[in-house]
Amino acid sequence: MSTIRLGDIAPNFTAQSTEGEINFHEWLGDRWAILFSHPADYTPVCTTELGAVAKYKAEFDKRNVKVVALSVDGLDSHKEWIKDINETQNTTVNFPIIADEDRKVAMLYDMIHPNADNQLTVRSVFVIGSDKKVKLTITYPASTGRNFDELLRVIDSLQLTAYYKVATPANWNNGDDCVIVPAVSNEEIPAMFPKGHTEVKPYLRMTPQPNLD
Ligand code: BEZ
Repeated sequence: MSTIRLGDIAPNFTAQSTEGEINFHEWLGDRWAILFSHPADYTPVCTTELGAVAKYKAEFDKRNVKVVALSVDGLDSHKEWIKDINETQNTTVNFPIIADEDRKVAMLYDMIHPNADNQLTVRSVFVIGSDKKVKLTITYPASTGRNFDELLRVIDSLQLTAYYKVATPANWNNGDDCVIVPAVSNEEIPAMFPKGHTEVKPYLRMTPQPNLD
């Protein structure tokens, strides 16, 4: 078991998936990614989650984000369950699901929390940047399905920070003003943020979202 912290390089692994063997770092290439675990195949909340992710594929693609799911069930189970997901969620699963029967990846990413369940993975989420560094981790219990709109919101925020040196304030949503990060000096602002800025306090400088027309 290892603890994975923000800024760490996402540990590499090789695993079987519904789309063939994956060497994680090769699979990532130079794209962003989400690696997320679910407790088990043929369970109700997981069925809705994987269906939801399939429907969001275009949104992940738009953000240059690949998606891969994982549970400790086997490949045959995943492949049969996908038929149920497609049927009941009215979609087509369009991303790989890792079959982690020996729990190798689950242990590497600390996805089994024994005081919750000592066999099954919790609902872990890892957002990984194009530099292969872990940008975000979230953990949900088995009983709570994830909010994938929130995940898209967080990815938008992470990418704004990576590409434009802005942070996002409380309850920010796409289109709202952003915070200029403290590492940017006042002298640098006009060239970096031509849309202008407002200095609410010397440490709180707001600017319109830089990547919008
Ligand atoms: C579910 O996906 O519905 C689920 C899985 C494990 C425990 C509770 C719920």
